[in-house]
Formats: sequence, C-alpha cells, structure tokens
Amino acid sequence: MTERIVSGMRSTGKLHFGHYLGVIQNWVKLQKEYESFFFVADWHALTTKYDNTANLRQDVFDVVVDWLACGIDPEISTIYVQSLVPEIAELNIYLGMITPQNWVERDPTLKDMAKILRTKEAANSQISYGLMGYPVLMSADIMMFNATAVPVGIDQVAHIEITRDIARRFNNIYKTDFFKEAKPLLNNCSLICGLDGNKMGKSFGNDIKISDNEEVTTKKIMTAITDRTRLRKTDLGHPDQCEVAFKYWEIFGSVDDVATVKSECEQGLRGCADCKRQLAAKINELFAPIREKRRYYENHPQEVEKIIKEGSAKARIEAQKTLKEVRKLVGMY
Ligand code: TRP
Repeated sequence: MTERIVSGMRSTGKLHFGHYLGVIQNWVKLQKEYESFFFVADWHALTTKYDNTANLRQDVFDVVVDWLACGIDPEISTIYVQSLVPEIAELNIYLGMITPQNWVERDPTLKDMAKILRTKEAANSQISYGLMGYPVLMSADIMMFNATAVPVGIDQVAHIEITRDIARRFNNIYKTDFFKEAKPLLNNCSLICGLDGNKMGKSFGNDIKISDNEEVTTKKIMTAITDRTRLRKTDLGHPDQCEVAFKYWEIFGSVDDVATVKSECEQGLRGCADCKRQLAAKINELFAPIREKRRYYENHPQEVEKIIKEGSAKARIEAQKTLKEVRKLVGMY
C-alpha cells in the first residue's frame, strides 16, 4: 500500500511565493508518490480570527484556487476543507482528553502566536481555549488519516513533534499500535525572504502573491532591497551583500542567469533598477502558466466548488473508518 501524507494550510486568503516555494511545490511533487490529503484548515484560521469571519468563505476558496493553479491535481490528491469533515472535531475531543496541559503550553509556535496576539487590540488579545488546542487539533488532522509523513514548512515541525507524542500516548493508554507516528517532510528549497529582506508574510506587507498580475509583480520587485552600499550604476556591486534581488535571482534564475548577473554587477555594468526589471520579467515568465490556470478556476467557481465537495466527501469516508476504530479502542458506547 502506498504511504499517506496529510498537510494543510490555514485559510488566510491568497497565497504568496513563500507558500509556493516552501510548501506547495513540494506537495505537487509528492502527490505522485504518496496517497495525498490536502486540506484548508478553516478551524485553525478561526483560532485567531473568530471575531472576523466575513471573508472566511472567500479565503477558503482562494486557497484552493491557488493550489489548483500551482498543480495540485484533484484527480490524484484529495482536496478538502477541514470543517466539512466534522469527524476531525470528534477525534480532537478524544485526543484532548489524553493530552497533558503542559504539552500544549510548551508548544513554541503557540507561544509565538500568543506574542503576536498580545500586540493586537485588547478584544482579540486573549488566548482562547480553542487556540490552546491548536496543536491537538493539528494532531487530529494528521492522525485522522493515519499519515506517516506531513510535508510542511520548518515552522510547523514542533507541532508535528507533539502529534507524534500524542499518537504514542494514545497507543500506550489504549494498548494498541493503531496510530502511526508521522514524520515531518521538509523540502530542500531555501526560504524566500520578503521584499524588505525579512521573513515573507502577508501581514508584513512584503510578499508577492501567486495571484499578483505582471504589473503588480514588477512594481513590487522594483521595491526589493539590493546592495545598500551601491549608489550609482557604475559603482562595483556586491551580489553577496544584495539583500533581496540577488537572492531572488538564485531562486528563480538559471545557473547562467545567476553567473551573468553576478559578473555584470561586480563589474559595475548592471544597474540595480535594470537588474530588477529583468528579474521581474523572469518571474512573470515562470508564473505565467500558473496565473493563467488561476484565472481559469477563478472564472469557473462551480468547478472549484465541485472539487471541494467531492474531496471532502472522500475524506469523510476515510475519517469515518478511523473514528469507528478509535471509538472502539477508547471504549465508547
Ligand atoms: N498549522 C498549519 C499552518 O499554519 C496548518 C495545519 C493545520 C496543518 N493542521 C495541519 C499542517 C495538519 C499540516 C498538518 O500552516
């Protein structure tokens, strides 16, 4: 039997290059090797956005459209929405019972989220019971499908560790080997930084979206930080000190592109503005097919709805099998 992978993303709206390079590209590759379940974590989105749900539906739709555009294939992967598989919530209850409080309190990712929340307006700054349960719910997502691997970005690894601990504890308590211990599956792509050189993120306003058109992309690239010591085109450049543009070349350019850019920059033959215009053209060329596919799905929302409905129905069937076994193991009526 082929091994299973499960992974998800919170529904935070349109996705950016960081999502694409860090995670989605990996999924596109892995879906050919594993039985794959990819879901939009709308309950996880609710842990911090429970008081701002006006766009929740649209956000879910936008995430799925980005995935489809990037090459997640609904013919071979199961694409679903977490809340359309309510069995996950029931598993979350059983897992919550066996998870020691200090395991969730220790979760470093949760600590970071709490820090961000504290900087927000008072009404939304409380850490809710639901947010505390973030890693337990994630464990339910993963264990529901008894996945052996979880392809995620490095920031999620701590969560997967807790999932393994919870799976082991469940097996110990209920004297079973039913749950497998899932490993994180990282890709080897280096992290892409934002246009300002910091971590790329929607809330930092330094991202390029998969859905951005050519014009917007070019405008954004023109703001990318370069070599701060270089004032004139004829100044000799230092690609290794170029904070963003050259790093993007290394990600998006061919080996030849990178060699040309490096040598022209070092000799003062290439100005930063020209360099970034070329970089934008390169990126626009690479993303043209993805963006075209994206427009197609955006214009055919019924097709997207159908993919979500069918994927969720398929996920439920698998989830019900797991839950039946879990209820039996726990000893429920
Ligand atoms: N926490 C993940 C994120 O922020 C999303 C997520 C929820 C997830 N449940 C998961 C990822 C289960 C992998 C497996 O992107």
